[in-house]
Amino acid sequence: MYNIHITGGRRLCGSTSIHGAKNSVLPILAATVLAEGTSVIKGCPRLNDVDCSLKILEALGCKTKREGDTVTVDASTVAKSTISDALMHKMRSSITFLGAVTARCGEAKMSFPGGCELGPRPIDLHIKALRQIGICVKETCGTVSAKLGDFRGGRVHLDFPSVGATENLMMAAVRCRGETILTNAAKEPEICDLQNFLNKMGAKICGAGTDEIRIIGVPRLSGAMHRVIPDRIVAATYLCAGAITGGDILLRSVEASHIEAVLAALKDAGAVLAVNHDTVRLTASMRPRPINLLRTMPYPGFPTDAQALLTALLSVADGTSVIEETIFENRFKHCSALCRMGADITTRGSLAIIRGVPALSGAKVEACELRGGAALVLAGLRAEGETIVSGTSHIDRGYDTFLEDMQSLGAQIRRIE
Ligand code: UD1
Repeated sequence: MYNIHITGGRRLCGSTSIHGAKNSVLPILAATVLAEGTSVIKGCPRLNDVDCSLKILEALGCKTKREGDTVTVDASTVAKSTISDALMHKMRSSITFLGAVTARCGEAKMSFPGGCELGPRPIDLHIKALRQIGICVKETCGTVSAKLGDFRGGRVHLDFPSVGATENLMMAAVRCRGETILTNAAKEPEICDLQNFLNKMGAKICGAGTDEIRIIGVPRLSGAMHRVIPDRIVAATYLCAGAITGGDILLRSVEASHIEAVLAALKDAGAVLAVNHDTVRLTASMRPRPINLLRTMPYPGFPTDAQALLTALLSVADGTSVIEETIFENRFKHCSALCRMGADITTRGSLAIIRGVPALSGAKVEACELRGGAALVLAGLRAEGETIVSGTSHIDRGYDTFLEDMQSLGAQIRRIE
């Protein structure tokens, strides 16, 4: 365990690049289990959740190897369809293995992922969708068991465009005997990345990125090589770090079209942005402009994963901003820590009212979840004096080289064991 020590007040300047997307690599690693061969996934960040996915793949009988940012998964030897409670509890998104393992093995058994730092995380939409394409799913005493029934595909409408439910359904439907039409599907870039990987494996999917995805089942899938897309939330984090310090930074290996809502919010907050082929340059002044109302929405709306980052930025704006969180009910935990650093934020239900202050001051604060933790680091970069952030294992779940990247941009930030 370590804490992050930050001496704030340094303006970030320089350039850095963005690693592969956690939320792409996790479902893609789950999808490798569908292949009767070897897949090579490039651009895999070094994150605990990636290690956990590899452990799950090994427990299922796959052979895995990591060399640098490349992970190789040989799924020709899959022998098990059960995932232990210990592995399921390490990572909520392990539920994305449900569709893939059932489609590959004919059955799957794993524990219910349960709640997490962001509040209840139900999987009712995953289960309902899988049942509609002919998978029998039973829930007993915290365990989910699935078995292929009349596995013909069908029409599925999601009541909410859940990212995980869309991914689970895609990974199951690729092997069914007929066609599946999914409506009100999630449109996140990670869904397109999964479609691209599955199609390289021999699947027949189209429509990812729109609200209707069509999948024609195929009898078998082979291994494929794929590079995951850049992490749009890491890009958002670094841009907000540049903005909160009044900096001038250039991000390389960014897909700007994936972060349009974040770029629009940063522009509203007064940052100057220059977007090129795969780079974004941000220049900002010390006092952002307030934003009247910023509402988190499913993609292409403003991402809930960037909400805490904008909250930190707007805490030093020249006026009052309001943020509405519509995706998760418990996603304002970082606000009390920001207030300890001098921010003036009131939360009421799904709203955060942020009265901008001219300065933050360093304090000892604890990260309670991944993006909220990153937001505290950003506040520390801006604050006068020293900030110590504990609970850093949450932050490590989503950032491979956060501290090194901030240091390369000129931040005074270090790990203290
Ligand atoms: C994914 C992302 C996460 C991001 C979220 C929303 C991964 C690994 N994680 O999470 O970083 O914050 O999308 O963009 O990709 N819901 C239900 N029933 C369900 C499923 C979801 O009620 O069966 C609700 C959730 O409680 C939540 C909302 O739907 O309120 C969104 O969840 P979902 O889109 O499924 O998020 P995840 O896939 O878990």
